[in-house]
Amino acid sequence: MTDLVRFGIAMDRALLERFDGLIERRGFANRSEALRDLVRRAIDQDAWDSGKLVCATITLMYDHHVRELTERLNELQHDFGEAIVSTLHVHLDHNHCMEVIACRGRARQLREVSERLFGVKGVLSGGVVASALPKGQ
Ligand code: NI
Repeated sequence: MTDLVRFGIAMDRALLERFDGLIERRGFANRSEALRDLVRRAIDQDAWDSGKLVCATITLMYDHHVRELTERLNELQHDFGEAIVSTLHVHLDHNHCMEVIACRGRARQLREVSERLFGVKGVLSGGVVASALPKGQ
């Protein structure tokens, strides 16, 4: 880590005890590492909420026997082709598939594509994990 800055934080004792419990359970090396993790998560969340450039995975689980489902998912992915970098398809069992779609683009566009994918009949679950892109991108 370059250019490390130290700063003090005042915190309510009860809150700090709960924070230390969380650090213990999650196995952080120390409070600084735990705080850096929280800050990075907040930055990722802010990038998503404010529509900034992000990289993200959209994960879907669906029953591929539902009529026209795979065609609809394919069509939507073509419509948002410039934001989709790669797709991983896993055949979970006889009925179910998982798809992990790697994306890069404006958060508002990725939100739209994810919501449209989740809304397709036969999609059983879905989620998005987004990260702010490094500065300068
Ligand atoms: Ni499959």
